[in-house]
Amino acid sequence: MIPRKSKQEIAHMREVNRILAELFVHIEPMIRPGITTAELDQEAELFIRSRGAKPAFKGYRGYPATLCTSINEVIIHGIPGERRLAEGDIIGIDVGAIKNDFYGDTAVTYAVGEVTPAARSLMDTARQALYDAIDQAVPGGRLYDISAAIQATAESAGFSCVREFVGHGIGKALHEDPQIPNVGRKGTGPRLEEGMTLAIETMINQGVWRVRILPDGWTAVTGDGKLSAHYEHTIAVTKDGPQILSTL
Ligand code: MF3
Ligand code: CO
Ligand code: CO
Repeated sequence: MIPRKSKQEIAHMREVNRILAELFVHIEPMIRPGITTAELDQEAELFIRSRGAKPAFKGYRGYPATLCTSINEVIIHGIPGERRLAEGDIIGIDVGAIKNDFYGDTAVTYAVGEVTPAARSLMDTARQALYDAIDQAVPGGRLYDISAAIQATAESAGFSCVREFVGHGIGKALHEDPQIPNVGRKGTGPRLEEGMTLAIETMINQGVWRVRILPDGWTAVTGDGKLSAHYEHTIAVTKDGPQILSTL
């Protein structure tokens, strides 16, 4: 069953997701060569708490931090630490928070200084795939229209879609039904209805779609060590179309 939210519940989700959008504005200037991912994480936690919200990931299934910081071949769930960003890296920053019993969840991949044209192309495609997917989140549509849009945009650019991880419903829990794969067939899956709130995530790889998990039990890396990019928005399905909640 896919939970649906009232206008008032969606207003709460808008509030917490807007804080996350503001967090990205706040930390973007810090994403430069030399900073550690632990420093970014500390700043993010302070910002979230200063806005009356709480980090959603910290303590979730034992996850130790506020952010996931996923550098280069890391797809998702990179744990912040003493590693310093270097010129030419790409870093996916994923963050969740809870306020007034509702969750927000969003991710952006950033370039550190100048990156290669190939890295830029991967990032641009993963971001475009997210917006193409969001366009499909309309009442009367089908869930896997969203997945098919991600797959079409990514594969037509020559990239691959991660299969082992998915987007998800979100609301009173960080992860609700349904699961939202990055691949799927248009015209299939559950009907989309007004009031559904979804965290749509694109996880796009330069090379193979296969994933490997590092011995820390969290860090998911590409099977071939090539780059990966991750973007995510929390959105609401409304009668006026998709509404992005995790934006300014
Ligand atoms: N960032 C993931 C998502 O977007 C959830 C992270 S779970 C954590 O759904 F434990 F790693 F934080
Ligand atoms: Co996320
Ligand atoms: Co998510």
